Amino acid sequence: MAFDLLLNLYKKDPTVKRHLLKSITWRLVGSIDTVVIGTFVTGKPAIGLQIGGIELLTKILLYFFHERLWVRVRYGLPFVLSRHKPENRKGENLFRQYFTIDRKKREELMGHPAFTIWMTGLSASGKSTLALALDEWFHHRGIHSYILDGDNTRLHLNRDLDFSREGRKENIRRVAESARLFNDAGVIVIASFISPYAEDRLQALEIIGKKSFVEVHVSASVEECMQRDVKGLYKKAMEGKISDFTGVNSPYEPPVNPSIFIETGSATIHESLGQITTWIAENLLVMDLREIH
Ligand code: ADX
Repeated sequence: MAFDLLLNLYKKDPTVKRHLLKSITWRLVGSIDTVVIGTFVTGKPAIGLQIGGIELLTKILLYFFHERLWVRVRYGLPFVLSRHKPENRKGENLFRQYFTIDRKKREELMGHPAFTIWMTGLSASGKSTLALALDEWFHHRGIHSYILDGDNTRLHLNRDLDFSREGRKENIRRVAESARLFNDAGVIVIASFISPYAEDRLQALEIIGKKSFVEVHVSASVEECMQRDVKGLYKKAMEGKISDFTGVNSPYEPPVNPSIFIETGSATIHESLGQITTWIAENLLVMDLREIH
């Protein structure tokens, strides 16, 4: 009966397991203390053991239900429990739902870990070409990946955002939250965004998680990008037809210490792809990729 109750509780919320373990370990420590005190006061170890034993059984349950009660009380909880606390007032009446199939289980099913390759660089620096090649590379090896691309997400999810400072910040925040969800689902994300501000990239790292975030600087000088100008946007920006255009009348802050640095002006697409896949194989997919390389 009590076991079924616990099992049902656990299915709804995995923290039940933690509280149960805490109840048992804490009561063991507490009851050993009682046995020692009981023996000391009465001078009879048998009485000390009896009191300690009864206490162990009854208080495990009392402690457990006490913990379950307190998990619902928000009073006194530190700030860190809510990630964007100041803006998150609207979330006051929301409760995190726990899923029994977690990221680890999904990654096991996929057969590889999930992470986000975050490509930053000027427009026309070669991010999209590289993203495409990397996506194909993963796909042909049975690895699940998906591209999140600036132009595409701005046409749909982020169609209400402009290229102002605030617009770009919100663009990167939403995309990072999306990448986090994809990673949670066990899928590798290739994010291809100019993401010109270091502060926004740091926020993306915090949302996605340090261990899952690989920063790739796809570097090419503004002059090179202007020469390529595949979309004709640099020309328009130079003519004053586009405002806030990165590299022309809006800044680009290069990453100080990216995981991977790629010079698309001097390296071929094959070389650049090799740089990324070697890094991934060495740092993230060691076991799996050596077998299928
Ligand atoms: S970001 O700065 O917010 O990260 P994002 O990568 O989503 O930018 O979108 C960049 C794409 O939007 C470019 O590839 C380009 O095609 C298009 N674009 C339109 N206007 C601008 C602009 N003012 N600055 C940069 N890119 C622009």
